[in-house]
Amino acid sequence: MKNTIKINTQAGIHKVDKNIYGHFAEHLGRCIYEGIWVGEDSEIPNTRGMRNDVIQALKDMSIPILRWPGGCFADEYHWKDGIGSKENRAHMINTHWGGVVENNHFGTHEFFDLCALLETEPYICGNVGSGTVYEMQQWVEYMTFDGESPMTELRKSNGREKPWELKYFGIGNENWGCGGRMRAEYYADLYRQFSTYVRDYGENSLYRIAAGPRGDNYHWTEVMMREAGHFMDGLALHYYTRLQDHSVVIENPDGNRIYLKKKDAVRGQAVDFEEQEWFGIMKAAYFTEELVEKHAAIMDKYDPDKKVALIVDEWGTWFDVEPGTNPGFLYQQNTMRDAVSAGISFNIFNNHCDRVRMANIAQTINVLQAVILTEGDKMILTPTYHIFEMFKVHMDAILQPIELTSSTYNFEGEEVPQLSVSASKDAAGKLNISICNTDPRNSAQVDCDTGGYAGKQVTGRILTSSSMNAINTFDQPANVKPEAFTNVQLNEQGFSADIPPMSVVVLTLE
Ligand code: AHR
Repeated sequence: MKNTIKINTQAGIHKVDKNIYGHFAEHLGRCIYEGIWVGEDSEIPNTRGMRNDVIQALKDMSIPILRWPGGCFADEYHWKDGIGSKENRAHMINTHWGGVVENNHFGTHEFFDLCALLETEPYICGNVGSGTVYEMQQWVEYMTFDGESPMTELRKSNGREKPWELKYFGIGNENWGCGGRMRAEYYADLYRQFSTYVRDYGENSLYRIAAGPRGDNYHWTEVMMREAGHFMDGLALHYYTRLQDHSVVIENPDGNRIYLKKKDAVRGQAVDFEEQEWFGIMKAAYFTEELVEKHAAIMDKYDPDKKVALIVDEWGTWFDVEPGTNPGFLYQQNTMRDAVSAGISFNIFNNHCDRVRMANIAQTINVLQAVILTEGDKMILTPTYHIFEMFKVHMDAILQPIELTSSTYNFEGEEVPQLSVSASKDAAGKLNISICNTDPRNSAQVDCDTGGYAGKQVTGRILTSSSMNAINTFDQPANVKPEAFTNVQLNEQGFSADIPPMSVVVLTLE
């Protein structure tokens, strides 16, 4: 079959929110500690305790937003433990993630300092599962109130005179699971209660994000939109790209779900895999589209003007941890398979940017589908990092609707589209097109009609490898890295290109 892309360059209206390229850093394993925070006295070059190499790498990819402190950790985090002099901060057990002792050296002040260094927007997730309304109310007061109050006095006594600017605030995390095992109806009421006391002080206007569904839990979305849709700005969907759900899912007659840990779940190896697992991950990545469309259709019923955003604030691949590492730390390597699946996810988010206005990879450093891995003072950029960096041309650009006719990638009687594509036009009028070839064996010849866009030149970059298991290592950090792509020719309709197997290509026409 001929692969064709028709880009309707006269019809773009929706902006690809830059926050679709957002991040998530939890107090989990070596994400915050070691990955970001090494402390002021560390030999690793740092700025006020935060490692310089990581800060620079994240700035280079123009990280737009960072979600913190969890995840499951958020619903057992008590923010007052993480302020004041470090020696006096309370220690706690990180029960979700390895049972290690958390010394709370990285807290509210350090997080805002990190965001300032990164020039990124903070997104804080509050504790509903084990916290109180009062505690959440006080945290928001501490961070954002400029008047005279007990919390502002406390903030000032900890060295911060002026409040911080904070827009994005999440009210709980996965409250159907680690955040309290709640039914949708119960959480909807709690959301209404907690969000009432999460105040806007002065000029600071919060964007309130409700904990949303896990994967295909459409009941959760239905109940949340029906019961609390008027009180939220965003509803958070969590979807992990994996070979098999690692929970046993029990559906109650009332539509609510119970998630129990599956003992024999097949997560598979992050690096040592065959084509069957490659195909499985491509298929799981494409499933994101069905989820987004079905959740968005429910949201459309209650919110036809699309005021409430669908925020995919946890997404990415989830495999077995690297052999020999702490199972509670979720440390995994990152291959070409991660890169192509990230490209598919981004193309889906871009193409649904009328509703999807933020997405946060899980997680930024050393955890799950990380963009950066560290080992002592060494740091490497993963193939997924390069996808973020290549796709940043779409940030805040106008989505260009496309019609795609793609061949299929077939494996043992199943198929997925061989090509995944999205296109946007930036403020300078450049047309950027991202194309993933999911087939690890066959290239794809593509003809693109750019709908009258008069491009005089085309440039491109490609991320690919001769092996689907290719990784960057601390000894060979540049095994997988973007290269110039020249297999593309302009023609009267637009361009034609030959997209190599298992590759991600980003083209720019101007
Ligand atoms: O990202 C790891 C964990 O996955 C998060 O803490 C939780 O929200 C999700 O289940």
